[in-house]
Amino acid sequence: MNLLVTGGAGFIGSNLVRHLAAAYPAHRIVVLDALTYAGNLRSLADLENAPNYHFVRGDIRDQKLVTQLLADLQIEGIIHLAAESHVDRSILGPEEFLQTNVMGTFALLEAARTVWRDGRTGRFHHVSTDEVYGSLGETGYFTETTPYAPNSPYSASKAASDHLVRAYHHTYGLDVVTTNCSNNYGPFQFPEKLIPLMIMNARDGKPLPVYGDGRNVRDWLYVQDHCEAIDLVLHKGTAGEVYNIGGNNERRNIDVVHAVCDLVDELAGPQPEGPRRRLITYVKDRPGHDRRYAIDATKIRDDLGWEPRFNFEDGLRHTIEWYLHHTDWLAACIDGSYRDYYESNYQGKFDG
Ligand code: NAD
Ligand code: DAU
Repeated sequence: MNLLVTGGAGFIGSNLVRHLAAAYPAHRIVVLDALTYAGNLRSLADLENAPNYHFVRGDIRDQKLVTQLLADLQIEGIIHLAAESHVDRSILGPEEFLQTNVMGTFALLEAARTVWRDGRTGRFHHVSTDEVYGSLGETGYFTETTPYAPNSPYSASKAASDHLVRAYHHTYGLDVVTTNCSNNYGPFQFPEKLIPLMIMNARDGKPLPVYGDGRNVRDWLYVQDHCEAIDLVLHKGTAGEVYNIGGNNERRNIDVVHAVCDLVDELAGPQPEGPRRRLITYVKDRPGHDRRYAIDATKIRDDLGWEPRFNFEDGLRHTIEWYLHHTDWLAACIDGSYRDYYESNYQGKFDG
């Protein structure tokens, strides 16, 4: 199979490409990535010489380029991960989210329906998020039929893209599958997201900014589990169907941050000033902050036999070890634009 992975130089994309390249030596895996601040070729460096991997730098909104790639490389499957993915950035500046997540998905769908006709077929796997379902109270779970209720510009743009993908199946008969997944963690995640940000700041003895009361709940899934679920849905999922993917692992943010502090104390060694929990600083909340996400992953388990393999304690320990050993990778992320982002996102929050 010839596969096009959009966003393959990002966090989940690079883990997925590594998984697919090892699992399917006979597949050709082409990565299309614009290398925005979140894309990093260092995350794919170990694959550079793999015979079944090929990298193309380009924008998913460039419909001409995508059409050419699909036709010339005889692509039979697109796994679409390219996106602006960080909620806080979508609050600071929503436009890029609409451009990439909505118009980018539209351009890909148009290219696919142009090329996959007259006997040529292909599958479009759209990788989406549980955030499209909005926020849960203390109880209940997101299922595939939960009504959409996105609350941030990021989740609204992902919701719009999900609807476009659905519409291309119903209107044009495109073979599509959509997966909506909960929060991922693991190696190669950009240090703007909760877990890698806390690891890096804890390592460096910097304040650990916890939004609001720290009791918002996320359902954490180790990234390798997500990659295996995508692999399964791509190869075995039913056209037109949606599958929710979750870790069955709900945690309050404050409990996650405590666990990170304790593990960094253990793995990087204690600090003379005292345990790293002392660095925790409650800051002004994220606007529109969803209270709780929790996935009911019954459908993908019953229909395709997928279940997460990693438990949170092992996954988190492995993740922290990875970050502590990959200081070069982390240092390369922290350039001037990162510092600018950090200042605009957190300055007002720390101030109160
Ligand atoms: P990420 O921000 O780490 O990576 C995004 C990648 O997309 C980067 O490599 C970036 O360079 C690329 N990209 C951005 N705009 C592009 C454009 N216009 N053209 C081509 N490439 C472009 O994101 P991630 O966390 O790996 O998420 C990947 C996908 O999975 C996203 O669609 C996201 O919505 C979804 N998702 C993420 C999570 C999570 O917890 N991280 C959970 C569920 C779903
Ligand atoms: O649920 C899936 C989604 O998970 C994905 O679609 C998104 O791409 C991904 O970014 C993630 O979104 P969240 O907003 O849940 O992730 P984030 O890591 O930004 O935040 C996790 C929780 O931690 C959330 O409740 C906000 C809180 N938080 C986050 C940061 C960055 C803090 O308390 N402090 C912080 O500094």
